[in-house]
Amino acid sequence: MARRKKIALIGAGNIGGELAALAARHELGDVWLFDIPDKLGVAQGKALDLEQNGAVLGYDAKITGTSSWDDLAGADVVIVTAGVPRKPGMSRDDLLTINLKIIRGVAENIAKNCPNAFVIVISNPLDAMVYEMKRVTGFPRSRVLGMAGVLDAARLQLFLAREAGVSIKDVRAMVLGGHGDTMVPVTSYCTIYGIPVRQVIATDKLAAIVDRTRNGGGEIVKLMGTSAFYAPASAGIAMAQAYLRDEKRLLPAAAFLDGEYGYKDLYMGVPVIIGGEGLEKVVTIDLDASEKAMLDKSAAAVRELIEASKKL
Ligand code: APR
Repeated sequence: MARRKKIALIGAGNIGGELAALAARHELGDVWLFDIPDKLGVAQGKALDLEQNGAVLGYDAKITGTSSWDDLAGADVVIVTAGVPRKPGMSRDDLLTINLKIIRGVAENIAKNCPNAFVIVISNPLDAMVYEMKRVTGFPRSRVLGMAGVLDAARLQLFLAREAGVSIKDVRAMVLGGHGDTMVPVTSYCTIYGIPVRQVIATDKLAAIVDRTRNGGGEIVKLMGTSAFYAPASAGIAMAQAYLRDEKRLLPAAAFLDGEYGYKDLYMGVPVIIGGEGLEKVVTIDLDASEKAMLDKSAAAVRELIEASKKL
Protein backbone atom coordinates (compact mmCIF):
# COMPACT_ATOMS: atom_id res chain seq x y z
CA MET A 1 0.00 0.00 0.00
CA ALA A 2 1.31 3.45 -0.84
CA ARG A 3 1.90 5.53 2.26
CA ARG A 4 2.28 9.22 2.75
CA LYS A 5 5.79 10.57 2.92
CA LYS A 6 7.15 11.22 6.40
CA ILE A 7 8.81 14.56 7.02
CA ALA A 8 10.76 15.07 10.24
CA LEU A 9 11.61 18.60 11.34
CA ILE A 10 14.32 18.72 14.01
CA GLY A 11 13.79 21.97 15.92
CA ALA A 12 10.31 23.39 16.42
CA GLY A 13 11.38 27.03 16.71
CA ASN A 14 10.73 29.87 14.30
CA ILE A 15 12.01 28.15 11.18
CA GLY A 16 10.72 24.72 12.25
CA GLY A 17 7.18 26.04 12.70
CA GLU A 18 7.16 27.73 9.31
CA LEU A 19 8.63 24.60 7.68
CA ALA A 20 5.74 22.59 9.13
CA ALA A 21 3.19 25.12 7.87
CA LEU A 22 4.61 25.03 4.35
CA ALA A 23 5.07 21.25 4.20
CA ALA A 24 1.42 20.84 5.19
CA ARG A 25 0.17 23.48 2.77
CA HIS A 26 2.11 21.91 -0.10
CA GLU A 27 0.82 18.46 1.01
CA LEU A 28 4.33 17.01 0.91
CA GLY A 29 3.40 14.37 3.50
CA ASP A 30 2.80 13.96 7.22
CA VAL A 31 4.93 16.11 9.47
CA TRP A 32 6.70 15.36 12.78
CA LEU A 33 7.80 18.47 14.63
CA PHE A 34 10.60 17.42 17.02
CA ASP A 35 12.19 19.41 19.84
CA ILE A 36 13.93 18.78 23.18
CA PRO A 37 11.68 17.62 26.08
CA ASP A 38 11.63 21.16 27.55
CA LYS A 39 10.00 22.39 24.34
CA LEU A 40 7.63 19.46 23.80
CA GLY A 41 4.61 21.65 24.60
CA VAL A 42 5.68 24.17 21.96
CA ALA A 43 6.09 21.41 19.36
CA GLN A 44 2.73 19.90 20.23
CA GLY A 45 0.97 23.27 20.36
CA LYS A 46 2.29 24.30 16.95
CA ALA A 47 1.32 20.90 15.54
CA LEU A 48 -2.26 21.18 16.79
CA ASP A 49 -2.61 24.78 15.58
CA LEU A 50 -1.39 23.69 12.13
CA GLU A 51 -3.73 20.68 11.98
CA GLN A 52 -6.61 23.02 12.75
CA ASN A 53 -5.30 25.33 10.03
CA GLY A 54 -5.93 22.44 7.62
CA ALA A 55 -9.67 22.81 8.17
CA VAL A 56 -9.54 26.43 7.00
CA LEU A 57 -7.04 26.01 4.17
CA GLY A 58 -8.12 22.51 3.15
CA TYR A 59 -5.17 20.16 3.55
CA ASP A 60 -5.02 16.71 5.08
CA ALA A 61 -1.54 16.52 6.54
CA LYS A 62 -1.16 14.91 9.93
CA ILE A 63 1.15 17.00 12.11
CA THR A 64 2.57 15.68 15.38
CA GLY A 65 4.74 17.34 18.01
CA THR A 66 7.24 15.01 19.67
CA SER A 67 10.49 14.77 21.60
CA SER A 68 10.94 11.06 20.96
CA TRP A 69 13.30 9.88 18.24
CA ASP A 70 11.35 6.61 17.99
CA ASP A 71 8.48 8.57 16.41
CA LEU A 72 10.76 9.65 13.56
CA ALA A 73 11.66 6.11 12.50
CA GLY A 74 11.82 5.72 8.75
CA ALA A 75 11.43 9.42 7.89
CA ASP A 76 11.85 10.17 4.16
CA VAL A 77 13.09 13.72 4.66
CA VAL A 78 14.71 15.31 7.72
CA ILE A 79 15.20 19.07 7.92
CA VAL A 80 17.43 20.26 10.76
CA THR A 81 17.11 23.68 12.39
CA ALA A 82 18.14 22.52 15.88
CA GLY A 83 20.53 24.87 17.59
CA VAL A 84 20.73 28.33 19.01
CA PRO A 85 20.68 31.42 16.84
CA ARG A 86 23.50 33.93 17.29
CA LYS A 87 22.81 36.43 20.06
CA PRO A 88 24.40 39.82 20.66
CA GLY A 89 27.87 39.44 22.14
CA MET A 90 28.23 35.88 20.93
CA SER A 91 31.21 35.16 18.72
CA ARG A 92 31.03 32.84 15.73
CA ASP A 93 33.24 30.42 17.67
CA ASP A 94 30.84 30.38 20.63
CA LEU A 95 28.01 29.54 18.24
CA LEU A 96 30.13 26.85 16.59
CA THR A 97 30.90 25.18 19.93
CA ILE A 98 27.27 25.08 21.06
CA ASN A 99 25.66 24.07 17.78
CA LEU A 100 28.32 21.51 16.91
CA LYS A 101 27.46 19.57 20.03
CA ILE A 102 23.76 19.72 19.16
CA ILE A 103 24.31 18.67 15.54
CA ARG A 104 26.45 15.69 16.56
CA GLY A 105 23.68 14.36 18.80
CA VAL A 106 21.05 14.99 16.13
CA ALA A 107 23.18 13.31 13.44
CA GLU A 108 23.70 10.18 15.56
CA ASN A 109 19.96 9.90 16.03
CA ILE A 110 19.25 10.44 12.35
CA ALA A 111 21.71 7.69 11.40
CA LYS A 112 20.03 5.34 13.86
CA ASN A 113 16.37 6.15 13.28
CA CYS A 114 16.17 7.56 9.74
CA PRO A 115 18.93 5.70 7.88
CA ASN A 116 17.43 6.27 4.42
CA ALA A 117 16.44 9.91 4.81
CA PHE A 118 17.34 12.85 2.60
CA VAL A 119 18.75 15.40 5.05
CA ILE A 120 18.70 19.18 4.70
CA VAL A 121 20.65 21.19 7.29
CA ILE A 122 19.72 24.81 8.03
CA SER A 123 21.44 25.34 11.43
CA ASN A 124 24.32 27.81 11.52
CA PRO A 125 27.23 28.13 10.97
CA LEU A 126 25.81 26.28 8.00
CA ASP A 127 28.82 24.94 6.12
CA ALA A 128 30.42 23.49 9.26
CA MET A 129 27.11 22.03 10.50
CA VAL A 130 26.29 20.25 7.25
CA TYR A 131 29.87 18.93 7.00
CA GLU A 132 29.50 17.46 10.49
CA MET A 133 26.10 15.97 9.60
CA LYS A 134 27.64 14.04 6.70
CA ARG A 135 30.66 12.98 8.76
CA VAL A 136 28.66 11.64 11.72
CA THR A 137 25.83 9.98 9.76
CA GLY A 138 28.20 8.53 7.17
CA PHE A 139 25.49 9.19 4.56
CA PRO A 140 26.52 9.66 0.92
CA ARG A 141 26.74 13.24 -0.31
CA SER A 142 23.61 12.68 -2.40
CA ARG A 143 21.56 12.62 0.82
CA VAL A 144 23.06 15.51 2.83
CA LEU A 145 22.71 19.08 1.63
CA GLY A 146 22.81 22.47 3.34
CA MET A 147 20.29 25.23 2.74
CA ALA A 148 21.81 28.65 2.18
CA GLY A 149 22.08 29.41 -1.53
CA VAL A 150 18.36 29.55 -2.24
CA LEU A 151 17.94 32.03 0.61
CA ASP A 152 20.95 34.17 -0.32
CA ALA A 153 19.83 34.18 -3.97
CA ALA A 154 16.30 35.14 -2.91
CA ARG A 155 17.68 38.18 -1.11
CA LEU A 156 19.72 39.14 -4.16
CA GLN A 157 16.68 38.63 -6.42
CA LEU A 158 14.59 40.98 -4.29
CA PHE A 159 17.17 43.77 -4.35
CA LEU A 160 17.74 43.38 -8.10
CA ALA A 161 14.00 43.40 -8.82
CA ARG A 162 13.45 46.56 -6.76
CA GLU A 163 16.38 48.36 -8.38
CA ALA A 164 15.34 47.41 -11.92
CA GLY A 165 11.65 48.07 -11.24
CA VAL A 166 10.57 44.63 -12.49
CA SER A 167 8.65 41.71 -11.04
CA ILE A 168 10.67 39.51 -8.71
CA LYS A 169 9.28 36.55 -10.69
CA ASP A 170 11.41 37.47 -13.68
CA VAL A 171 14.69 37.76 -11.79
CA ARG A 172 17.09 34.83 -11.42
CA ALA A 173 20.23 35.13 -9.33
CA MET A 174 23.18 32.95 -8.35
CA VAL A 175 25.08 33.04 -5.06
CA LEU A 176 28.00 30.68 -4.47
CA GLY A 177 30.45 29.99 -1.65
CA GLY A 178 30.09 29.81 2.10
CA HIS A 179 27.05 31.11 3.96
CA GLY A 180 28.67 34.14 5.58
CA ASP A 181 30.37 37.44 4.84
CA THR A 182 32.50 35.78 2.15
CA MET A 183 29.59 34.52 0.04
CA VAL A 184 29.94 35.21 -3.68
CA PRO A 185 26.93 36.78 -5.41
CA VAL A 186 27.76 36.09 -9.06
CA THR A 187 26.25 38.99 -10.95
CA SER A 188 27.45 37.64 -14.32
CA TYR A 189 24.87 34.85 -13.88
CA CYS A 190 22.03 37.08 -12.68
CA THR A 191 19.36 37.85 -15.26
CA ILE A 192 16.01 39.48 -15.73
CA TYR A 193 14.26 36.92 -17.90
CA GLY A 194 17.57 36.06 -19.55
CA ILE A 195 18.80 39.65 -19.89
CA PRO A 196 22.06 40.03 -17.92
CA VAL A 197 21.49 42.43 -15.01
CA ARG A 198 24.79 44.10 -15.86
CA GLN A 199 23.03 45.53 -18.95
CA VAL A 200 20.22 46.96 -16.85
CA ILE A 201 21.71 48.05 -13.51
CA ALA A 202 24.68 50.42 -13.14
CA THR A 203 27.93 49.00 -11.73
CA ASP A 204 27.89 51.07 -8.52
CA LYS A 205 24.27 50.10 -7.83
CA LEU A 206 25.13 46.43 -8.41
CA ALA A 207 28.05 46.68 -5.99
CA ALA A 208 25.75 48.09 -3.30
CA ILE A 209 23.24 45.29 -3.93
CA VAL A 210 25.98 42.64 -3.62
CA ASP A 211 27.01 44.19 -0.32
CA ARG A 212 23.47 44.26 1.02
CA THR A 213 23.00 40.60 0.03
CA ARG A 214 26.15 39.59 1.92
CA ASN A 215 24.74 41.25 5.02
CA GLY A 216 21.16 40.15 4.34
CA GLY A 217 20.88 37.95 7.42
CA GLY A 218 22.41 40.53 9.77
CA GLU A 219 20.09 43.27 8.47
CA ILE A 220 17.08 41.27 9.66
CA VAL A 221 18.64 40.26 12.99
CA LYS A 222 19.27 43.94 13.68
CA LEU A 223 15.64 44.80 12.97
CA MET A 224 13.88 42.10 14.95
CA GLY A 225 16.48 40.69 17.35
CA THR A 226 16.35 37.18 15.92
CA SER A 227 17.12 35.59 12.58
CA ALA A 228 14.84 35.42 9.56
CA PHE A 229 12.45 32.50 9.26
CA TYR A 230 9.94 32.91 6.40
CA ALA A 231 12.37 32.86 3.49
CA PRO A 232 14.73 30.31 5.13
CA ALA A 233 11.79 27.93 5.60
CA SER A 234 10.51 28.43 2.04
CA ALA A 235 13.99 27.71 0.73
CA GLY A 236 14.25 24.50 2.79
CA ILE A 237 10.85 23.36 1.52
CA ALA A 238 11.80 24.08 -2.11
CA MET A 239 14.72 21.67 -1.69
CA ALA A 240 12.62 19.01 0.07
CA GLN A 241 9.93 19.23 -2.59
CA ALA A 242 12.50 18.91 -5.40
CA TYR A 243 13.54 15.59 -3.84
CA LEU A 244 10.09 14.24 -2.97
CA ARG A 245 8.62 15.10 -6.38
CA ASP A 246 11.77 14.33 -8.41
CA GLU A 247 11.67 17.83 -9.87
CA LYS A 248 15.32 17.98 -11.08
CA ARG A 249 15.52 21.57 -9.91
CA LEU A 250 18.74 23.48 -10.43
CA LEU A 251 19.29 25.42 -7.21
CA PRO A 252 22.27 26.79 -5.33
CA ALA A 253 22.89 24.68 -2.20
CA ALA A 254 25.73 23.70 0.12
CA ALA A 255 27.05 20.43 -1.33
CA PHE A 256 30.00 18.20 -0.45
CA LEU A 257 32.66 18.91 -3.05
CA ASP A 258 34.84 16.14 -4.35
CA GLY A 259 37.08 18.02 -6.74
CA GLU A 260 34.46 20.24 -8.36
CA TYR A 261 35.63 23.85 -8.70
CA GLY A 262 39.03 22.57 -7.53
CA TYR A 263 37.93 21.88 -3.92
CA LYS A 264 37.81 18.61 -2.03
CA ASP A 265 36.40 17.48 1.31
CA LEU A 266 34.46 20.70 1.78
CA TYR A 267 30.82 21.83 1.90
CA MET A 268 30.10 25.01 0.01
CA GLY A 269 27.35 26.70 -1.98
CA VAL A 270 27.34 25.62 -5.66
CA PRO A 271 24.62 25.05 -8.25
CA VAL A 272 23.22 21.52 -7.92
CA ILE A 273 20.44 19.46 -9.42
CA ILE A 274 18.04 18.02 -6.85
CA GLY A 275 15.72 15.18 -7.85
CA GLY A 276 14.50 11.81 -6.63
CA GLU A 277 18.07 10.62 -6.04
CA GLY A 278 18.79 13.66 -3.86
CA LEU A 279 21.86 15.56 -5.03
CA GLU A 280 22.00 14.29 -8.61
CA LYS A 281 24.68 16.57 -9.93
CA VAL A 282 27.03 19.37 -8.95
CA VAL A 283 26.87 21.79 -11.85
CA THR A 284 30.11 23.56 -12.71
CA ILE A 285 29.96 26.98 -14.32
CA ASP A 286 32.70 29.16 -15.76
CA LEU A 287 33.79 32.00 -13.51
CA ASP A 288 35.97 34.95 -14.41
CA ALA A 289 39.24 35.53 -12.54
CA SER A 290 37.81 37.89 -9.93
CA GLU A 291 34.83 35.62 -9.21
CA LYS A 292 37.12 32.61 -8.83
CA ALA A 293 39.37 34.60 -6.49
CA MET A 294 36.34 35.47 -4.33
CA LEU A 295 35.28 31.82 -4.31
CA ASP A 296 38.79 30.76 -3.25
CA LYS A 297 38.61 33.23 -0.38
CA SER A 298 35.21 31.90 0.65
CA ALA A 299 36.42 28.29 0.44
CA ALA A 300 39.38 29.19 2.67
CA ALA A 301 37.02 30.72 5.26
CA VAL A 302 34.81 27.61 5.22
CA ARG A 303 37.82 25.32 5.51
CA GLU A 304 39.00 27.28 8.54
CA LEU A 305 35.60 26.79 10.18
CA ILE A 306 35.62 23.06 9.40
CA GLU A 307 39.17 22.67 10.74
CA ALA A 308 38.14 24.52 13.92
CA SER A 309 35.19 22.19 14.37
CA LYS A 310 37.37 19.10 13.94
CA LYS A 311 39.30 20.23 17.03
CA LEU A 312 36.17 20.66 19.15
N1 APR B 1 17.27 18.69 19.30
C1 APR B 1 16.18 19.27 18.76
N2 APR B 1 15.93 20.59 18.82
C2 APR B 1 16.81 21.35 19.48
C3 APR B 1 17.97 20.82 20.06
C4 APR B 1 18.19 19.44 19.96
N3 APR B 1 19.26 18.85 20.48
N4 APR B 1 18.64 21.85 20.64
C5 APR B 1 17.93 22.97 20.41
N5 APR B 1 16.81 22.66 19.72
C6 APR B 1 15.72 23.54 19.30
C7 APR B 1 15.44 24.67 20.28
O1 APR B 1 14.78 24.20 21.45
C8 APR B 1 14.59 25.59 19.42
O2 APR B 1 13.20 25.33 19.57
O3 APR B 1 15.99 24.21 18.09
C9 APR B 1 15.03 25.27 17.99
C10 APR B 1 15.65 26.46 17.26
O4 APR B 1 14.65 27.37 17.08
P1 APR B 1 14.88 28.97 17.18
O5 APR B 1 15.68 29.27 18.40
O6 APR B 1 13.55 29.62 17.01
O7 APR B 1 15.83 29.26 15.94
P2 APR B 1 15.41 29.43 14.40
O8 APR B 1 15.18 30.85 14.11
O9 APR B 1 14.37 28.42 14.05
O10 APR B 1 16.81 29.05 13.70
C11 APR B 1 17.37 27.77 13.85
O11 APR B 1 18.70 27.93 11.85
O12 APR B 1 19.17 29.72 10.44
C12 APR B 1 19.61 28.95 11.50
O13 APR B 1 20.96 30.52 12.71
C13 APR B 1 19.78 29.78 12.74
O14 APR B 1 21.04 28.07 13.86
C14 APR B 1 19.77 28.71 13.79
C15 APR B 1 18.76 27.70 13.24
